[in-house]
Amino acid sequence: MIKVLIVDDEMSIRETLCTFLQHAGYHVDTAENAIKGRELFDTSDFDIVVTDIIMPRMTGIELMEHMRKTNSVCRILVMTGEATVETAAQAVKMGANGYLNKPILKADFLAEIADNTEVILAQKLKRLEEMEKDLYRDQLEDMVLSRTESLNKSMASIIYLLANVVEHRDPYTSGHQRRVGNLAAAIAQKLKHPKDFCNMVRAIGYIHDIGKIVVPTEILSKPGKISDIEYKLIQQHSQSGYDMLSKVVLPENFAIAVGQHHERMDGSGYPNNRKGEEILMESHILIVADVVEAMMSHRPYRPALGIDRALEEITINRTTKYHPQVVDACINLFKDNHYTLDDSFGEVHIPL
Ligand SMILES: [Fe+2]
Repeated sequence: MIKVLIVDDEMSIRETLCTFLQHAGYHVDTAENAIKGRELFDTSDFDIVVTDIIMPRMTGIELMEHMRKTNSVCRILVMTGEATVETAAQAVKMGANGYLNKPILKADFLAEIADNTEVILAQKLKRLEEMEKDLYRDQLEDMVLSRTESLNKSMASIIYLLANVVEHRDPYTSGHQRRVGNLAAAIAQKLKHPKDFCNMVRAIGYIHDIGKIVVPTEILSKPGKISDIEYKLIQQHSQSGYDMLSKVVLPENFAIAVGQHHERMDGSGYPNNRKGEEILMESHILIVADVVEAMMSHRPYRPALGIDRALEEITINRTTKYHPQVVDACINLFKDNHYTLDDSFGEVHIPL
């Protein structure tokens, strides 16, 4: 229901206008002066205020100024006798929405109130529509966010599953992919890459040896020295990994980095003798993490070589085999931050 406040010091006018409006279905409050009107206005929520101008102690103009400080939506109509027409016109300039000449005729008064009611209803409808739109947009955003989160979780669990599958076939290097992934993410972080990039490098690290699925288990778990043919078969795992991943719905750099994780800066690696910038930054990081982790860990054919030997390898071959900035970040990580290898599953990011 539309709420109207009538402010006039003449009781007969107040009561007449009040009766007109109540019969027309409005909720009406009245005030016998501007101070009382101000009190009612401040404590209630009126849609339309009809106020006289000339009143003792506080004028209708002063009341209007007060109302406009806190409310720009409420419709304000000023009532005026002939002597104050100019003042009423001035009031309209100052923010009143119209004025009514006294004596006020019922038909004119109700028509003016009806016009302003239409404006109020249109404003209320617009606000409702905006609220509805906001609500719909918020719900849509929440839905997209929750679907993206659940898709991310599914993708992450598939990465963890693939990592476990490879490790079950190659138990002698159990935990290798997880340690490489975590170390690669720590190096990426040291190089100040964004969080999503670091978590993506971690994900690539977790599955970088996926191509070993095609290498016979007898060769993977063979203790002691392996033959040249067996070594060649093992070497195929990076190309096999690329072939597998390039056929699934994963970002292209997953397959490329897995395929490049045995390449070297100077082109001495395999399978494609890629050099320098032909190798992705994700791959450069993975290469160093893979070499350091492999040297620090025990293998069926040799004991662990230790951190000093691993860091010596990347230092000696800094700029030849390995990316110098990646080498520096890795050394810094172990020497200054006392990084220790970590084989837990951490947060991964797969760009969708
Ligand atoms: Fe490998």
